Amino acid sequence: MKKRFTLFVLILLNITNIMAQNKAKVLVLIHSDNGGTYELAKEIAKGIESGDNATAIIKQVKESQNSKLSNIPVARVDELPAYDGIAFGSPVYFGNISTGMSEFLSKTVDLWTNHALEGMPATVFMSAGSGAGKELAIQSFWNSLAVHGMVLVSNGIRGYEGINHSIPQGNTVLGTTTMASLKDVERPTKDEKQLAQLQGKNFAKIALALKGTINKKEIAITEKPQNFNQILKEKGIILPEVPKPAGNYKPFVRSGNLIFINQVALKDGKILNPGKLGITVNEQQVKDAAKVTILNVLSVLNEAVGGDLSKVKQCVQLTGIFNTKDDYTNHAGLMNTASDLVVEVFGDKGKHARATLGASSLPVNSSVEIQAIFEIE
Ligand SMILES: Cc1cc2nc3c(=O)[nH]c(=O)nc-3n(C[C@H](O)[C@H](O)[C@H](O)COP(=O)(O)O)c2cc1C
Repeated sequence: MKKRFTLFVLILLNITNIMAQNKAKVLVLIHSDNGGTYELAKEIAKGIESGDNATAIIKQVKESQNSKLSNIPVARVDELPAYDGIAFGSPVYFGNISTGMSEFLSKTVDLWTNHALEGMPATVFMSAGSGAGKELAIQSFWNSLAVHGMVLVSNGIRGYEGINHSIPQGNTVLGTTTMASLKDVERPTKDEKQLAQLQGKNFAKIALALKGTINKKEIAITEKPQNFNQILKEKGIILPEVPKPAGNYKPFVRSGNLIFINQVALKDGKILNPGKLGITVNEQQVKDAAKVTILNVLSVLNEAVGGDLSKVKQCVQLTGIFNTKDDYTNHAGLMNTASDLVVEVFGDKGKHARATLGASSLPVNSSVEIQAIFEIE
């Protein structure tokens, strides 16, 4: 009896596996700032899975701080050829694709030169504000996908008859849009959602029909080193001179690929805003001191990499020590000034583990000391 049950389960698993293999695997790849594109993406995905001939997975092109979007997985460029079709979605920026989507596409040069997406179906949906230039935006999205040799799947006038024509709707013949800043009704409207589902359903049919006709390749993507010195320049961030050690120690030590740095709020040979928080200095003054301190850290780091910050692989950890009274608890708020600056410069590579603590006194009466660990090449 037990044997028969095991056999039954095995056959069932096998059938499920075969069924899954026969379905098209579609990536719904989005960039979204405020969530409008994500709302459409969910409807596109629903439509893709509605005919039971395809599975859909929603991913985004980069991490988002927006709580509505922060749980969506981030896609890697090199995984794109593994799918049977890609539905692209982004906000409309000046009648064009969004900067986030454009940045992601700019990393697909290796896929392009290796013909990795040629023949793969693609479709586009977008979230606009007023809707100005929405067709232009989809068309310019199509330009990039056409250069990749993808099969562009339009919407035509699919679903037009069923929509409420008394309010503006985001239907276009190229793909579905929504117009987030028209607050006459909730956006995406019921009809825009329906159009997105129809687009997804049609796309799944095409992805399945073309499944297996694309020569799948594994492409090794060579990531271009990021020029963090240039990013500093563009953001107008000027690194101070490397502070001289005040004792028998070095500004940094390299151990393996890790750089260890400790700095206080020294600016032009003097400590900026010295003293204890709540007695001689206020929170804003300590935040200003934390900014000066992290700039000192970055200046030392720059020296450690011989002036080429593109060698930085990761900010591993920051520890912020603040001169505070015993009952002070908002150390995290003070330290964010330093953390934000590191992430602003290094992006994902700037995201670090962190500790903050209060001290009853700090060297040379600085209100803050920061310890930093960076991984470099
Ligand atoms: C830089 C920028 C340019 C924009 N340009 C347009 C535009 O040309 N037309 C339009 O309708 N909306 C435009 N918008 C508005 C966005 O498309 C709109 O807010 C969209 O719903 C955002 O999508 P999301 O909710 O997925 O972030 C622009 C927004 C930004 C930030």
